[in-house]
Amino acid sequence: MSHQANVLIFDSGVGGLSVYKEIEVRLPQLNYTYIFDNEAYPYGELEHDTLIQRVERLITQLVSEHNIDLVVIACNTASTIVLPTLRAHLNIPVVGVVPAIKPASNLANKAVGLIATPATVTREYTHDLVRDFSQSKPVKMLGSTRLVDMAEEKLRGKVVDLKELEQVLEPIAHHIDVAVLGCTHFPIIKSEIQQVLGEHVVLVDSGEAIARRVQTLLELESAQGVGVREIYSTAPPWEERALNCALAELGFNPVLHFHLAI
Ligand code: DGL
Repeated sequence: MSHQANVLIFDSGVGGLSVYKEIEVRLPQLNYTYIFDNEAYPYGELEHDTLIQRVERLITQLVSEHNIDLVVIACNTASTIVLPTLRAHLNIPVVGVVPAIKPASNLANKAVGLIATPATVTREYTHDLVRDFSQSKPVKMLGSTRLVDMAEEKLRGKVVDLKELEQVLEPIAHHIDVAVLGCTHFPIIKSEIQQVLGEHVVLVDSGEAIARRVQTLLELESAQGVGVREIYSTAPPWEERALNCALAELGFNPVLHFHLAI
């Protein structure tokens, strides 16, 4: 590869930025294009086929327009169903993120909590992961779109309401000693989740494993220099001043509008 690699990171919202951070810290020299599909957000409530078709259209267009070398589907809800289709249609590596059931089960003595979107907790893929890797430890699942919204709001400057968070997590709170953050939005509110569940609960996410995978596929070491960072959303990003401030801290210019071709 003669140029610095162009990496595309994709999510329905700002959640994929938690994965971007893990990759970027290892490989700052690469060029990153981040896209969030806020026009179709939340993915956790989309129909199966609608989601597959939409992600395929978006990614195919982006890959050809931005000369992409590697795609990261930084969304558990999408990855648990779209990866086979994308890999069949693209001739570049596609890395996905799925709930970290295996490492969590290795750590658990009591039970694992899987916190994800309503769609991810019902996916066959997720149930297969539990069957194959939970080592007979009980896995208690909690699907919540409100948690995803809370992460979106936090990145736009709103303080997380801990009382509300406590209510959302209540069904699993006192029964687990390890929790899987099975949605890329949740590392954004990790400190608040930790506060509510208590320090005795270990929180596990897939971000670092994804970053290692990207590094292995590109066969690269960290190098001097910082590549180009661009961020797009599918809905016109008006009134996103607070978000743009948070994005500036991650090295991005203000959000641009991505036009999905008909
Ligand atoms: N960040 C996404 C995930 O990892 C989903 C958020 C949504 O429901 O749109 O599953």
